[in-house]
Amino acid sequence: MTRFISGRTPTTNAEAFERALVVTPGGVNSPVRAFRSVGGTPVFLASGHGPYVTDVEGTEYVDLVGQWGPALLGHAHPDVIAAAHAAVDRGLGFGAASTGEVELAELVLDRLTLTAADGTALAGTERRGIEKLRLVSTGTEATMTAIRLARGATGRPLLVKFAGHYHGHSDSLLSEAGSGIATLGIPGSAGITPETAAQTIVIPYNDEDALAEVFAAHGDRIAAVITEAAAANMGVVPPKPGFNRLLADTAHAHGALLIADEVMTGFRSTAAGWWGLEEREGVPYDADLTTFGKIIGGGLPLAGLGGRAEILDLLAPLGPVYQAGTLSGNPVAVATGAAMLRGAGPEVYEHLPRVARTIADGLSSALSAEGVAHTVAWAGSQFSIFFRDSAPQNYAEAQAQDVFRFGPYFHAMLEHGVSLPPSVYEAWFVSAAHDARAVERVLAAARPAAQAAAAARPAG
Ligand SMILES: Cc1ncc(COP(=O)(O)O)c(C=O)c1O
Repeated sequence: MTRFISGRTPTTNAEAFERALVVTPGGVNSPVRAFRSVGGTPVFLASGHGPYVTDVEGTEYVDLVGQWGPALLGHAHPDVIAAAHAAVDRGLGFGAASTGEVELAELVLDRLTLTAADGTALAGTERRGIEKLRLVSTGTEATMTAIRLARGATGRPLLVKFAGHYHGHSDSLLSEAGSGIATLGIPGSAGITPETAAQTIVIPYNDEDALAEVFAAHGDRIAAVITEAAAANMGVVPPKPGFNRLLADTAHAHGALLIADEVMTGFRSTAAGWWGLEEREGVPYDADLTTFGKIIGGGLPLAGLGGRAEILDLLAPLGPVYQAGTLSGNPVAVATGAAMLRGAGPEVYEHLPRVARTIADGLSSALSAEGVAHTVAWAGSQFSIFFRDSAPQNYAEAQAQDVFRFGPYFHAMLEHGVSLPPSVYEAWFVSAAHDARAVERVLAAARPAAQAAAAARPAG
C-alpha cells in the first residue's frame, strides 16, 4: 500500500487540486496558478493545440495566457514539436557542449540585427550591446547572472530596480516586484536577509526625477539599473517615450550598467526581439546586458543572457564571475527554441498586433457598453485591461484600480470558454495561431464578462 500514489489520474479540476494540495504547497508549482486573487478552483490543463487549451475535464478554452509568453506560434506547433521529437531521439541531455547550443546562439544574435522589410540589415542599427550569449534554464537565472556580472564588472554593490517590475525570484529582485508578488499583494519575500534587501534600491517607474535623485545620492556605488524593456508584470505599463534611453544615458554617465530584461518582451513584438527600439524610441538605446527567456526556449526551460564580449567574457571559464548549470543549453530545449525562432517570420509579427487589437477593441466596447471604467494598455502586441480610466505609468497607479472587478470578469470569461491570466497584474498574450474562429469565441464572451465586471462590488 503506498501512502501517496492513488494509481488513477484525476479527471476533474477539483479532484486534481485536492490531490495537489496534499503533495505540493498551495497545490501549485508557481503561485499565480493557484487562482488566489480570483478565487475558485484552478483549472488543470491536459493539452494545448494552436490557440486552445483543454483541461482534465475535457473543456476547451481559447488561451490568452500563451504559457506566459513562450507560445508565440500557438500550442504544439507542428514544426516545434517535430524539432523536439528529433532532439529527444538523439538523447535528452549530455551535460557537455553540443552543436545545437551554438546554432541557437547564432540564431538569436543574428535576429538582433535589425532588418528592413526586404531582409537587408539596416546600417547603424546593429545591437552593438549583444555580441555573445550565455544560455541558462530560466529567466530567473538569466537576470540573477546579469546582476552578478554587473557587480563583477563594476566592482560596485548596488542595484536599482523599478517598483512593479518582475525579474524572477532571486533574492535581489523581489522587493516590490510585480507578477505573483503583486497578485498576492505582498511587499516582497520572507527569507531574504536585510543586508541583501539593502543592496537593491527600488524607485517608481517612468519617474525621471527619482532616477536622477538615486544616482545623485549613490551614483558611485550603483552597479546597474535593471528594467523590463516594457513593464508587463503589473499589467502592461510601457516606458514613456525616451525613458529607456534616459536609463542607459544616466547609468553610463555614472559608470553603471543598464540591464534590459527582455525575458517577456524579447521576440514577441518584433522579429528583432527588441521591444523598445523600433516601437517607442526610434533610436537604439544601449543596454549593456540583455536577458531573454520564454520564446527563445520554444516552450521548454531555456533562457539567455547577452551582452558585449568584454562583459560576457568575465563569466567562467574565461573570467572570475561564476555561473553554471547541469541543464544549461539542454539539447531538446535549444532545438525547440530554434524551431520557434525560425517559425517566427515577419507575417507572425504582422498578425499578432492585428489580432490583439481586434480582441482588445471588442472587449473594450463591451465594457464601455456596460459602463465599466477601464483602459487597455499596450506594449507591442502584449496588452492588459486596467479597471481605471487612464493608463497607469507606474506601480502605484496600476494598483489604483477597481481590482475587485477582475475576479468576476475572469470567471465569466472562463465559463464562456476563454482562459485569461488569473491575475489583474499580468499581461495577455495572443499567438500566430489565434485565427478568426478563436477571436470570435473570445468576442462572444465579451458581453457576459463585461456584465459580471459591472455587477462586481468591493469585498466588505
Ligand atoms: C520580465 C521577466 N523577467 C524574468 C522573468 C523570470 O523568468 P522565469 O519565470 O523563467 O524564471 C519573468 C517571468 O515571467 C519575466 O516576465
